[in-house]
Amino acid sequence: MAGLVASPTFVGRVEELQTLEAARKRAADADRAVLLVGGEAGIGKTRLVTECAGRCAADGMRVLMGGCAPVGDGALPYAPIVEALRGLLGEIGVAAGRELVGPAWPELARLLPALGEPDRHDPLGESAQARLFELLLGLLGRLGEQAPLVLVLEDLHWADRSTRDLLAFLVRNLRRERLLVVSTYRTDEPSHQRFGPYLAELDRLISVDVPMARHPSVHCNLLLARAERSRLEGASDPERWQEAAATWESLTRPFEAAYARFRQAEALLASGAAREQAETALRPAHHTAVALAAAPLRREIELLAQRGRLRLQEPVDAPTMPKAASLGLTQREAEVLALVAQGRTNRQIGQVLFITPKTASIHVSRILAKLGVTGRGEAAAVAHRLGLDKP
Ligand SMILES: Nc1ncnc2c1ncn2[C@@H]1O[C@H](COP(=O)(O)OP(=O)(O)OP(=O)(O)O)[C@@H](O)[C@H]1O
Ligand SMILES: [Mg+2]
Repeated sequence: MAGLVASPTFVGRVEELQTLEAARKRAADADRAVLLVGGEAGIGKTRLVTECAGRCAADGMRVLMGGCAPVGDGALPYAPIVEALRGLLGEIGVAAGRELVGPAWPELARLLPALGEPDRHDPLGESAQARLFELLLGLLGRLGEQAPLVLVLEDLHWADRSTRDLLAFLVRNLRRERLLVVSTYRTDEPSHQRFGPYLAELDRLISVDVPMARHPSVHCNLLLARAERSRLEGASDPERWQEAAATWESLTRPFEAAYARFRQAEALLASGAAREQAETALRPAHHTAVALAAAPLRREIELLAQRGRLRLQEPVDAPTMPKAASLGLTQREAEVLALVAQGRTNRQIGQVLFITPKTASIHVSRILAKLGVTGRGEAAAVAHRLGLDKP
């Protein structure tokens, strides 16, 4: 590292870290999580993964790390996993290591001599390799039972065949283990061409069987794309926009949700729906655009409101309702109180609201109890003070 200065503080990479954080939460919930981190040499893959690993360790997860080296074929098979397991043995000791692996530990010792005397010394054949993979899967599963586990395999572009097979096996067979596998690779290595199909296959395995719910923002973007497509094809579909908006709302992504609601209102207007329906979609969008100071979106919304003669404010009497509700009054009781404040009798109230005088009197007693007052005069005073008596 002579001549190189590493920054003591980790900079940026907010989105990448968020992805890693989400993956490690999934792993902690026993939901297989595998991440591939690709990028050019020196772009910061190791630094990113180390930062994440540090956070995992601070959170009580166990971190095992190993890397591939540029030694070409003939390299020690399974080099990164061997390195990771050597780290584990250093941490827990050989006896505990054997116990975790189980009685078949001499098989694993063929890779990891630190475990003890291996059962044989000849190279691993196909069936021995299959047993070894199962052993490793079992070991990782049991380690995950003790504490969620993070396995970092670095520089996959240099991986030998055995390591690649092992990683593909893990990706294919991990199910409910509390394990996060993070693997880094360079995208600008000359070997990348050769390595590409393997990566593509790995990627496919990672995404296979994974319901959309595990990638909620991908799901949202697909819904959004579907809605945009209907718009670009000249038949903007309000239902698609509604679906996209509701999904962004469920992820608490207000800007995207507001945009989708705006398009929903636009589509509703274009399809001849009732103006109130478009208003219902447009109002929360306007509210969000104002709150986020999202000026261009706000302008679009206001223009649409003008064009479609949509009201962006609630009808004027609505603000009285939250006040009444905050006093614990129902809408009907608020109406009765407004009439009490105007000095109406139970019979008159009954006439106005099409209810019997008896029902009106029951409403009045409830109102007095809720307001904590003893008579109609006092109730009227409260109503005046809060402006509930005004239409
Ligand atoms: N987000 C960051 N904040 C601060 N320093 C960083 C950040 N990312 C990378 N660096 C620094 O940049 C240098 C190169 O980063 P790193 O070793 O992580 O790259 P890499 O992608 O793993 O490269 P290689 O492909 O050679 O393994 C290191 O000194 C690292 O500390
Ligand atoms: Mg690196």
